[in-house]
Amino acid sequence: MITSTAISSTGSTAPPVAVHRVLTGQKALVTGANSGIGKGVAIALGQAGADVVVNYVEDDDTANAVVDEIRKSDVKAYAHKADVSSEDQVAAMLARMTQEFGTIDILVNNAGLQRDSAFHEMTLDKWNKVLGVNLTGQFLCAREAVREFLRRGVVASVSSAAGKIICMSSVHQEIPWAGHANYAASKGGIKQLMESMAQELAPKRIRVNGIAPGAIRTPINTVAWDTKEAYDRLMTLVPYGRIGEPADIARAVVWLASDHSDYVVGTTLFVDGGMTLYPGFATGG
Ligand code: BGC
Repeated sequence: MITSTAISSTGSTAPPVAVHRVLTGQKALVTGANSGIGKGVAIALGQAGADVVVNYVEDDDTANAVVDEIRKSDVKAYAHKADVSSEDQVAAMLARMTQEFGTIDILVNNAGLQRDSAFHEMTLDKWNKVLGVNLTGQFLCAREAVREFLRRGVVASVSSAAGKIICMSSVHQEIPWAGHANYAASKGGIKQLMESMAQELAPKRIRVNGIAPGAIRTPINTVAWDTKEAYDRLMTLVPYGRIGEPADIARAVVWLASDHSDYVVGTTLFVDGGMTLYPGFATGG
């Protein structure tokens, strides 16, 4: 049993919780796993007993550091550089994984980015980049994983399901976001992609679910929390009164990847401190 704690500097702490080895023997791929939410997820999957592939697209050192951290849990891990929006690179990544680990049981479709812009100034490059990584990347990785799940089928000693896919979405699959039309569109797309896959693949015992994080303390949104003023403004949007930590999301992923959630299919789990409760309406409307 391993305990994980996330300590924050700006007034919030994700409580320490015991991580049990509920994923022993399973093989997981986490995309975008060298920083932010993906890093927290990859480490937690290792703590839960899974062998983990750490996908990343730049900065070898950070990816290797995550691998070292995962190996402390006595599981296997390696880093694999690949752009999830490239069909060839994704196919090669999954081919290597099935060679090195034998198969894949868990895909965490996490890689994502923002390229913010006022709508009238948004370039096609910014649009294509965000849709390419956030949405097409999830499609390509899921398609390769599903091909392997279908080939292998259920191995009852490993899991009740033939495979699990967890799609990292955002509260912005629901909440419109001015200045971020490309990002919000990608997350709305992820919702429909996830649900359509879930409907189609459930009869094959493949479980597809989503997680919609709210404001999590990661490099993607530093401007939203790195000064007291920004943090206080952010808190007007979070009823629970603290920013989320990668560990908050990682625990949800471990649960969705495990047989503890075996009857959960096609659901988006919002992990957002109540952001989607529209706190402005607590006193207005
Ligand atoms: C975005 C963050 C933002 C959060 C809440 C996330 O999906 O990536 O930048 O802080 O949503 O708005």
